Amino acid sequence: MTVVAMDRVSLALAGRTILASVSLSIGTGDFIGLLGANGAGKTTLLRAILGMVPVTGGSLTVFGQPPRRGHAAIGYMPQGRANLPETRLKGWDYVAATVQGQRIGLPLYGAALRKKVDAALGLVEAQALARRPLAELSGGERQRLLLAQALVDEPKLLLLDEPLLNLDPGQQRRVVALVKHLHEELRVPVVFSSHELNPLLGAISRVLYLGHGEAAIGAVDDVITGPVLSRLYNAPIEVHRVGTRIFVMSGNVEVERDAHRHEHEDGHHHGHDHHA
Ligand SMILES: Nc1ncnc2c1ncn2[C@@H]1O[C@H](COP(=O)(O)OP(=O)(O)O)[C@@H](O)[C@H]1O
Ligand SMILES: [Mg+2]
Repeated sequence: MTVVAMDRVSLALAGRTILASVSLSIGTGDFIGLLGANGAGKTTLLRAILGMVPVTGGSLTVFGQPPRRGHAAIGYMPQGRANLPETRLKGWDYVAATVQGQRIGLPLYGAALRKKVDAALGLVEAQALARRPLAELSGGERQRLLLAQALVDEPKLLLLDEPLLNLDPGQQRRVVALVKHLHEELRVPVVFSSHELNPLLGAISRVLYLGHGEAAIGAVDDVITGPVLSRLYNAPIEVHRVGTRIFVMSGNVEVERDAHRHEHEDGHHHGHDHHA
């Protein structure tokens, strides 16, 4: 079954075309790795599926309907949120606050809400974490609470924007394994954006690679090739495989690593989560 269908979709922000004529279809069994350099349009594409960025050309449907904001069937983890809530707010209340219709500060929580929140926390094994203030948690621990937040309304589609950002390799592996487990257990399709492909290998069914306003979608072996990526990066790209790892090189520069390093160097995310 088709969950997201794009037919020659164009997306623009502030009058500038970000993606042009992208066609793809995401099915219920998919775990899509959404790749591309900083600024390639990963966040914009996810926000279009959420109805937060208008489609300027072509057609986009989500569950067979035009995208709309606040769709309860979509679980969304915005980019960069893991560093935001420096607060004494407990994880449990933070997750509860996202349940449809809830607002922080309600004095009472109904039994149904409690059950929903506890179930989502159970899925990511964060029940104990949820009793502690967010400010005391590590990046990896917050990431799990954010995932619980995305799961709390029992989504039929999970959109996760750069969950691996600022996590060390061990934490990255745990997050990918957890999402893979949820994908299989809950049979929920996943779109997982990342700067880096390697942590996602072994989990994803297909890759959606963005660059220079274009997109390529398919199996890793069909998309992560010199010719396809040279077109998307608009530069000569070589793909090297070392064991199970894949290195995408532009001359002597590893393009994915380089993008990631910039993200760390200037000390903030380039995401637009404040619009969320
Ligand atoms: N609100 C906005 N207004 C104008 N341009 C934007 C806005 N948000 C993002 N952009 C631009 O759109 C392009 C795609 O951004 P984004 O989707 O965040 O890329 P990615 O998530 O792949 O890093 C970038 O060039 C970015 O600067
Ligand atoms: Mg982004």
